Amino acid sequence: APAVIVAIDGPSGTGKSSTSKAVAAQLGLSYLDTGAQYRAITWWMVTNGIDITDPTAVAAVAGKPEIVSGTDPSAPTITVDGTDVSGPIRTQEVTSKVSAVSAVPEIRARITELQRSLAASAQNGIVVEGRDIGTTVLPDADLKIFLTASPEARAARRSGELKGADLHATREALIKRDTADSSRKTSPLAKAGDAVEVDTTDLTLQQVIECVVTLVEEKR
Ligand code: C5P
Repeated sequence: APAVIVAIDGPSGTGKSSTSKAVAAQLGLSYLDTGAQYRAITWWMVTNGIDITDPTAVAAVAGKPEIVSGTDPSAPTITVDGTDVSGPIRTQEVTSKVSAVSAVPEIRARITELQRSLAASAQNGIVVEGRDIGTTVLPDADLKIFLTASPEARAARRSGELKGADLHATREALIKRDTADSSRKTSPLAKAGDAVEVDTTDLTLQQVIECVVTLVEEKR
């Protein structure tokens, strides 16, 4: 089968990562978590004392850290200048700051280039998950999926992952981040015109995975 390129976009808490990893593993494709890349560059900014509220300061160092993503869906890795940051990029501090960093055009240009080159070098094809993959990064993807879910379902899934985090606070933080991601000027979170929308509110993870696998198989 020729290399198939799958773009999976949507807001947080829709099951994007779990779905994308499982679909890639099941079909023998590579996997790229683009949110992890934005988190990694944000972690580097925070660690190096860059004022992330100042877009000029962020843009000035956009090219500095070396970000390397492993694309094996069964063991995705991410390093910054050789350091594994898989854990530190999931902290609340990074989560609360990533939208400001990812809104800076110089940051997006840099990360988008990395994403395109990884997609182009994936021999068997790749599942790329994010916010602007179908609209901006890979507009010629063979299949575009846009995952949605009610805010209640998304907050419940997130607080489940965070093991008992306050549901209300999680919901507020999630809505705040989605609003920032959807309203920024440069490649905001958006559904591509030719994307298939899947509302996951009343579906189990297994049902979403099966639905996407079927859609990919139709394209192969
Ligand atoms: O998917 P995840 O929640 O890890 O993404 C973290 C953040 O990275 C998002 O809130 C968004 O600000 C940014 N992001 C982005 N474009 C992408 C993927 C993620 O701006 N393609």
